[in-house]
Amino acid sequence: MSARSGKVTVVGAGFYGSTTAQRLAEYDVFDTVVLTDIIEGRPEGLALDLNQSRPVEGFETRVVGQTTTPDGAGYEATEGSDIVVITAGLPRKPGMSRMDLIETNARIVRSVAENVARHSPDAVVIVVSNPLDEMTALTQLATGFPRRRVLGQAGMLDTARFSYFVAEALDVPVGVVQTLTLGSHGDTMVPVPSRCTVEGKPLADVLPADRIDELVARTRNGGAEVVALLKTGSAYYAPSAAAARMARAVHDDAGAVMPVCAWVDGEYGISGVYLGVEAEIGREGVRRVVETELTDGELAGLREAAEAVRAKQADVKDL
Ligand SMILES: NC(=O)c1ccc[n+]([C@@H]2O[C@H](COP(=O)([O-])OP(=O)(O)OC[C@H]3O[C@@H](n4cnc5c(N)ncnc54)[C@H](O)[C@@H]3O)[C@@H](O)[C@H]2O)c1
Repeated sequence: MSARSGKVTVVGAGFYGSTTAQRLAEYDVFDTVVLTDIIEGRPEGLALDLNQSRPVEGFETRVVGQTTTPDGAGYEATEGSDIVVITAGLPRKPGMSRMDLIETNARIVRSVAENVARHSPDAVVIVVSNPLDEMTALTQLATGFPRRRVLGQAGMLDTARFSYFVAEALDVPVGVVQTLTLGSHGDTMVPVPSRCTVEGKPLADVLPADRIDELVARTRNGGAEVVALLKTGSAYYAPSAAAARMARAVHDDAGAVMPVCAWVDGEYGISGVYLGVEAEIGREGVRRVVETELTDGELAGLREAAEAVRAKQADVKDL
């Protein structure tokens, strides 16, 4: 049996946070998973429930639940975390855009980030609260952490959705489909068809262009499609799978390359913005942004996305 190590905290024990904690615990590679929320008793109850699943699922990672307050009571339980996943904040309701959440979630994420920095000054922080790019930038400001130690989850999810839609359209296993999306989470998501393959063949050789465009549009709208069906909240199975994989990549320190929201400093001719790009992930967070070859059109799309999120990120310091 391999040795377990490290402590990972998931802030926010709603749908996203609790499923992320479950996935992280079931990996059985961490010593401890801490789950927190401001709803009295919820994280403790979920942790107890998750621990009781250990004999059935056969994992030894301990799950600790802790109620916290916005001013920081209870954060002692998170002390010295190696990784913190921030899921605290409101999700969308049908008809809402992610940007409609910005003021409320900025207040929540700022206070969470300050408490995290106080208790886990060396942590790598993975942000998932929406609007994602802005909340990632705000977390970096509020923690004061080096930029490589603060990253956001969006690209893994958008890419997974795109891959699933392609696999479904062609009736092939998801495992033979490779896709990539860069840019921002939302309207400025940039699909990269030139990097998409099915059984090694370019996507453009196996699907007509108008069909690819439809799947791209469905991917861009992927979160809203789930929100419209659920009516009371947003997606969490695929999102938690994405965030948990990122946390695991930090833990494993093997240099996994994945699409994440990372600080871009000169790559693709873009500087000074958190943006969805591929990055090599390790114990220190983002080891480096990995530049991939893009067509002129894809590069133009990525630069456009960068300018769109830059304007919004500049405002987060005032929120
Ligand atoms: N990045 C992505 O790809 C992606 C995908 C899906 C959802 N999201 C976002 O993730 C966030 C969480 O979604 P959800 O479905 O879990 O929502 P949810 O309402 O089920 O859970 C949010 C939880 O945060 C808690 N919370 C609020 N303030 C807190 C604080 N100060 N400290 C600790 N906990 C606090 C709430 O009590 C609640 O339990 C939302 O902002 C949603 O938009 C992001």
